[in-house]
Amino acid sequence: MSIVMNDIRKSFGQMKTEILKGISEEIKTGEMVSITGRSGSGKSTLLYIISTLDKPTTGAVTIDGVDIASLNSKELHRFRNEKMGFVFQFHHLLPELTALENVLMPAIKHGLTAEFKQRASDLLKEFGLGHRLNNRPSELSGGEQQRVAIARSLIMRPRYLFADEPTGNLDSINGQAVMNFFKRINETENTTVIYVTHDIEFSKMSHRQVVLVDGRIGSD
Ligand SMILES: Nc1ncnc2c1ncn2[C@@H]1O[C@H](COP(=O)(O)OP(=O)(O)O)[C@@H](O)[C@H]1O
Ligand SMILES: [Mg+2]
Repeated sequence: MSIVMNDIRKSFGQMKTEILKGISEEIKTGEMVSITGRSGSGKSTLLYIISTLDKPTTGAVTIDGVDIASLNSKELHRFRNEKMGFVFQFHHLLPELTALENVLMPAIKHGLTAEFKQRASDLLKEFGLGHRLNNRPSELSGGEQQRVAIARSLIMRPRYLFADEPTGNLDSINGQAVMNFFKRINETENTTVIYVTHDIEFSKMSHRQVVLVDGRIGSD
């Protein structure tokens, strides 16, 4: 089981500026991989593509033997819902729901069991939000909202977790708590964790560091 990228290229705009210039890489199930590189090097673009949220211009992404381009949108939704957790910079918490309810959103279609509710509140407590369970996003700081989004990404126990600068808005204590949790689920639940970071210490918590340089893999 793995994620295989086969000569991924991505261009944007009328000028067809090539942002990813041929990425071939395999990430095995159970790996923890950091993606680093300068701003504008293509990290977010690559993460969107390998997490199925965007399509490459050419090249293929295969996850657990399934060519993502072969899935229709319904199959793709199911694939994501069953296997994947996402932490992206625009986290879209629902303003009318509390922190706890936001974390529970992905579980709704599976039935809001007591077990899910317990896990949601455990996750929020894990990230220092035990006193914020019943607050709405507008009552939370940016960093608190980010931690709610991270808890939401974990509620379904995804096999693959994709995170774009998950600690970007967090102070060092909360950032460390999030990274420790990622490391723990990687070790104890074999969750594949793929994350973009600017933090050198956090990047070293991975098994492997992929460095993007101007749309190509620099060192690995
Ligand atoms: N949707 C888009 N349309 C046009 N250009 C884009 C788009 N997304 C990203 N880019 C460009 O691609 C380059 C890489 O962006 P990104 O992947 O966000 O880099 P990073 O995350 O490493 O900072 C940047 O020059 C950015 O402006
Ligand atoms: Mg980025």
